[in-house]
Amino acid sequence: MSGDLLITGGTVVEAGWSGPADVLISDGRVSALVETGTATAATTIDASGRLVMPGGVDPHCHVGFTSGEFTSLDDYRECTTAAVYGGTTTIVDFAIPRPGENPADVAYAQREKASQGLCDSALHGCVVEWDDTVPDQLAALIGDGITTFKMFTTYRGETMASEDTVLRTMKTLAGLGGMVVIHCEADHIIGDTQRSRAAAGRIGATDMAATRPALAETASVAEVLAIAESVDAPVYFVHQSTAEAVELVAAARRRGVRAYTEAVAHHLVLDDSRYAGDHPERFVCCPPLRSAGQVEALGRHLFTGEITTIGSDHCCYDTAQKEIHREDVRAMPNGLPGVETRLPVIFSEYVVRRGLPVSRFVELTSAAPARANGLYPRKGTLLPGADADIAIWNPEATWQVTASGLHMATDYTPYEGMRLTGRPETVLVNGRPVVEDNALADPTPRGRHIRAVPFGRGGA
Ligand code: URP
Ligand code: ZN
Ligand code: ZN
Repeated sequence: MSGDLLITGGTVVEAGWSGPADVLISDGRVSALVETGTATAATTIDASGRLVMPGGVDPHCHVGFTSGEFTSLDDYRECTTAAVYGGTTTIVDFAIPRPGENPADVAYAQREKASQGLCDSALHGCVVEWDDTVPDQLAALIGDGITTFKMFTTYRGETMASEDTVLRTMKTLAGLGGMVVIHCEADHIIGDTQRSRAAAGRIGATDMAATRPALAETASVAEVLAIAESVDAPVYFVHQSTAEAVELVAAARRRGVRAYTEAVAHHLVLDDSRYAGDHPERFVCCPPLRSAGQVEALGRHLFTGEITTIGSDHCCYDTAQKEIHREDVRAMPNGLPGVETRLPVIFSEYVVRRGLPVSRFVELTSAAPARANGLYPRKGTLLPGADADIAIWNPEATWQVTASGLHMATDYTPYEGMRLTGRPETVLVNGRPVVEDNALADPTPRGRHIRAVPFGRGGA
């Protein structure tokens, strides 16, 4: 058997299994997984001592995202450059309408940017307000491969949707093979908490954790689950930050609701003691970092199987943007840069330090995000026929995270100084080495917008 490229001598890691195998690539796709040494190719990559994984699929990535007075600082080229350095080969971005814009126009415009990427991307649409044109827009977008739609129960006056809009959107999408992906924090609870704290002068970045209590997340998750159950719609909860919220979703799943949990790397690794440090503003995100006990309890659900995916919630603000309103979190840009660090941080902290099986790591960070977004089995696997998006990891490399050693369009990382074990060294996109030995080997933008397959129509 022969092909264009052979990755030989490594341990292939898929969701559900791992073992020695060679990966044969032809025409940008995996053509076969074969016993080591049994195939030939024009070019060979020696992966001895390495883990050969499907490239990461980041289901939650904001590129050049405008919220309030701030726009995050990267474009598709910059974001995907950082992504591939970190072993991620597909990002899912958001097309979020500003007031007065409609979901379809914004999504079609954002989709055009995919070609600037070094890797492929997909897109979540977004519904903020209901009107009679929304069902036709959703149907058109799903026909064009945009099947997941972000909604928010917070950020009043910006992107918050009413319960009525959430219900109508869920019900419409359920009939079309689409799904709501939702940020749940009960805005009325947050608003009240923030007004009281502002009156007492305790609304700065150091107060971040208290300004958005866990109870607000729990309350909103319960409400949205009830809506989904009432209209028999699937629902995916983004960046769940507490075990309690995850357990509400798991309990709903056990009674037949198609409900899924995404956790994001920073909630699994960093805790709210960061708000007592020198630069609390650099850790301001929604939901906020939680207590060490809550981080521990959330992380346990990576092992129980109750967490479906791990995303980054990448938002590339820099320290200057974070500092401007550090005395009032209500005016601050929320979110942390993380597309490049998502995989290495989780690999080191959970696979190496806590014993998470590496095949579960691939499930959480690649296969399941691909499935949840209608991209599997094209993405998220190394089975024959998949795009040859591959990260070859040195599981023993030790290194220190520094902003200067990363490639995101910002001047800081929330993981500054952290020592990690394991990193991707060589990364292939559609069969081409884009990163080799930790250096960019091919900066040519060849990104494609990947059309998601509607749920129940031949996807996974
Ligand atoms: O703090 C966050 N998460 N910012 C990005 C927007 C969002 O809510 O996902
Ligand atoms: Zn969110
Ligand atoms: Zn987000």
